[in-house]
Amino acid sequence: MSEDLFKKITSHAKEYGFIYPSSEIYDGLSAVYDYGPNGVLLKNNIKQYWWKAMVQLHENIVGIDAAIFMHPTVWKASGHTDAFNDPLIDNKDSKKRYRADQLVEEHLAKIEAKIDKEIRKARKRFGDAFDEAKFRAEHPRVQKYIAQIDEISRKLNDALARNDLPALKALIDELEIADPVSGTRNWTDVKQFNLMFQTQLGAVAGSAQHLYLRPETAQGIFVNFNNVLKTARVKIPFGIAQIGKAFRNEIIARQFIFRMREFEQMEMQFFVRPGTEMQWYETWKEKRMHWHRSLGFAADYYRFKDHEQLAHYANAATDIEFRFPFGFKELEGIHSRTDFDLRRHEEFSGRKMRYFDPETRENYIPYVIETSIGLDRMFLAVLSAAYTEEKLDDGSERTVLRIPAVLAPVQVAVLPLVKKDGLPEKAREIFDRLKWDYQVQYDEKDAIGRRYRRQDAIGTPYALTVDHQTLDDGTVTLRDRDSMHQERIPAAEIPHILQQRFNLKAWLG
Ligand code: GAP
Repeated sequence: MSEDLFKKITSHAKEYGFIYPSSEIYDGLSAVYDYGPNGVLLKNNIKQYWWKAMVQLHENIVGIDAAIFMHPTVWKASGHTDAFNDPLIDNKDSKKRYRADQLVEEHLAKIEAKIDKEIRKARKRFGDAFDEAKFRAEHPRVQKYIAQIDEISRKLNDALARNDLPALKALIDELEIADPVSGTRNWTDVKQFNLMFQTQLGAVAGSAQHLYLRPETAQGIFVNFNNVLKTARVKIPFGIAQIGKAFRNEIIARQFIFRMREFEQMEMQFFVRPGTEMQWYETWKEKRMHWHRSLGFAADYYRFKDHEQLAHYANAATDIEFRFPFGFKELEGIHSRTDFDLRRHEEFSGRKMRYFDPETRENYIPYVIETSIGLDRMFLAVLSAAYTEEKLDDGSERTVLRIPAVLAPVQVAVLPLVKKDGLPEKAREIFDRLKWDYQVQYDEKDAIGRRYRRQDAIGTPYALTVDHQTLDDGTVTLRDRDSMHQERIPAAEIPHILQQRFNLKAWLG
């Protein structure tokens, strides 16, 4: 997929008020972004869609909203103070800093691209008779590339698992990886770099307490485990969900809102009886994939990628990867986190973090399945799958965002055909009726065709056009964004029709 397309998406996002660089008048702030008028609507709709699917539709999941600042011991207990590190490496010529593991991963991606190229060539040559699996298994060059990938991945995972920084550096040297900026292989040693931002609480010099901006929302859920247990009348298995900001001092933050320094997470911790976690892990994998697929993008946008190297607290982990314009990348993580977090908080706080199970009459620390998705990353996934450039029958072109209607920033546009003859008044009547239930945009400026294009560009799924016939027989035209099909409907039926199209059950059920 082309760099070009990604550039078009980012500039479209800016031009149409979805995303702006932060503090742009001061030349921006690296990897920090602001959401504009259409962006905030889309973002809020994604939050709502997640919240309703997770909290409203699950009797046994409740929500919280914990503070960003937390007691510093939280991060000692969770392991972030000691181990929330990325291995970094500097190029001595360009003075640019990179994540050492990502340099190797980019090298792997280049080999993958060579395999893809062979496959594309062969598919073209053999047409319908092409058998990709057989080709992969038998073609000597592809076999050689696959063997290279396996060998490099093994060495990379090994070095990361053992936290062996010299081995990581040796791998970069062995693969002759060059800095994309300077083109040289003049690297420093690999060092660990903690990703948490630090700040201070309190104004009195000397007595200030060092705090961190939370790098994940999950810990706010763990430390409130007892509070929720006491106040929400929940019984195992149950979940606690939260949407909120997280902060990471990413070494390299590229790819627009894919990797940011300030971002939002939508996380849910599901507390289960020990021994049942694998079954719940499978359940949540399926449920979360169902949520993604409910939005209607093609199945080949998604894949599971199991973690080969598990974090010390996990006994199973997978990513839901999304086919972004720059390739398949993690969109959501589903982790079986054992009892690690609650056990550590019990240890560090001295408070019991246990559940008395009335069925087994046992007192235990529950096991946890976590689902964790980046809201901004989900926003980028929606935007990139929705962005379409089309050539129309009349030879003209349009750019349309095929955003799932349930997430669209503006749900309905109300457009009087002309700015006279009582049409604006009639259209305003419809607008005033609908605005209580929908995000509606009224637009009377420019020719109707240009107005349709404007709505297409921000992804408005439906447009209602009021014309002279409306005054005679009370009908309006309903235009569908994707097919551009227009049908005449009685204005009185609009609420019913929209209710059907935006019905949550029809989307999520
Ligand atoms: N509590 C588990 C956790 O935080 P993670 O894999 O580090 O796990 C979960 O993050 C999700 O948060 C990722 O799948 C991704 O969607 C999002 N995320 C992580 N770092 C991010 C960043 N720097 N910018 C944007 N989103 C990020």
